Amino acid sequence: MIDFLKIEDCHLIYEWRNSLSVRQSMINSMPITYNEHMNWCREILDKDSKVWFIYSNENDVKQAVIYFNDINYKDGVAKWGIYKNPISIRGVGKVAAKESLNKIFIEFGFKKIIAEVKNDNTNSIRFHESIGFSKVGEKKIYDSNNTPFSCTVYELTRGHWLLNEE
Ligand SMILES: CC(C)(COP(=O)(O)OP(=O)(O)OC[C@H]1O[C@@H](n2cnc3c(N)ncnc32)[C@H](O)[C@@H]1OP(=O)(O)O)[C@@H](O)C(=O)NCCC(=O)NCCS
Repeated sequence: MIDFLKIEDCHLIYEWRNSLSVRQSMINSMPITYNEHMNWCREILDKDSKVWFIYSNENDVKQAVIYFNDINYKDGVAKWGIYKNPISIRGVGKVAAKESLNKIFIEFGFKKIIAEVKNDNTNSIRFHESIGFSKVGEKKIYDSNNTPFSCTVYELTRGHWLLNEE
């Protein structure tokens, strides 16, 4: 089940966000303090250009965060990202992605979702390709120390998603 992320969830996702596997997938991969995290949570929950979801399994256990940032409502385009509780079983990512993409494409009427994946994140590259994202380019992204990272840019259109969901 997918729900909007609430401030109460932010304590739980702090542990996930600071785990090594999740940090390594981020452009800024240094550990963050609890206060930084909570301030950042309050900020994102307040912004129209961001929609954050939390996924819970059939036993109501919260397992993954799925976020849509840089939302352009006019064109129906957003950038997304996902991370799960690192101790959750393999397969959680796909189910959480499926539910949130159904919501964003069908309920919210978005047209295109963009992903930027660090090239050394081979799990995430396979993950994006396995759920139907297509590679559209390469890009360099700079972290706060100006260190460049090579990323692959992926896109998933509503048309492609609905076709594969049938
Ligand atoms: C990316 C992430 C959400 C995927 O969730 P997951 O539960 O591990 O993924 P799934 O088990 O649903 O896997 C979907 C596909 O991804 C690939 N994949 C996932 N984990 C893999 C692994 N450890 N080794 C190889 N392939 C893997 C496979 O192709 C898999 O499909 P298959 O199981 O049918 O072969 C999760 O690994 C995660 O939180 N990673 C850290 C944060 C991150 O990298 N986020 C993405 C940033 S762009």
